[in-house]
Amino acid sequence: MKAVILVEPEIPENTGSIARLAHNYDYQIRIVNPEFNLEKARKTAKNGQEKLRNAKIYDNVEEAVDGLDFVVGTKPGKGVGLKEFTPRDNTSIMIGRESSGLSNEELEMCDAVVHIETEDYRSINQSHATAIVMHSFAETEGEGLDLDKKEYISSIVDSEVLEKLIFRANPSESEANRLIGDLKDMSD
Ligand SMILES: C[S@@+](CC[C@H](N)C(=O)[O-])C[C@H]1O[C@@H](n2cnc3c(N)ncnc32)[C@H](O)[C@@H]1O
Repeated sequence: MKAVILVEPEIPENTGSIARLAHNYDYQIRIVNPEFNLEKARKTAKNGQEKLRNAKIYDNVEEAVDGLDFVVGTKPGKGVGLKEFTPRDNTSIMIGRESSGLSNEELEMCDAVVHIETEDYRSINQSHATAIVMHSFAETEGEGLDLDKKEYISSIVDSEVLEKLIFRANPSESEANRLIGDLKDMSD
């Protein structure tokens, strides 16, 4: 199961548009402390009414990510460029507040962080950003690193290096194979 997690959304029209996307791309909706009554999001939700009705509400981000396999946080200019990122199956997406985005603490709770590459002003509308990420993930979902390989790499590399340099970038299968080859060469 994959979810789109909205952290303290402020603009009902954006949440409605994201509910519509959640229907189109089949994500569960999880919302942390919405700043408005969700009824107000109905107008722009269009065919996403059921997704909006079934949205799960949480008091904090920690509870909202509980039980999800792999969560990707989104932040203009931070983390890995979306074009370089390969999602695995059931990759969830965390989307920040319209005013201030996601805090560093909230990004820390994600398994990886991506940014959408833009030409100039890096921040784009919240629901537009969600559409771009969902569409990109739909094109390459499942090509990401499988868990067996993750376990193997974990057994031979220092955990801090692993967390910061490798898993945050969520290498694709071919990148992981190359990485394993390089690590083997280094240890020979
Ligand atoms: C209007 S933006 C918030 C901008 C805020 N100043 C920041 O730095 O995150 C609202 C949300 O849309 C998503 N978003 C907007 N532009 C993005 C980009 N270029 N890359 C990734 N996510 C983006 C993020 O989830 C962000 O928290």
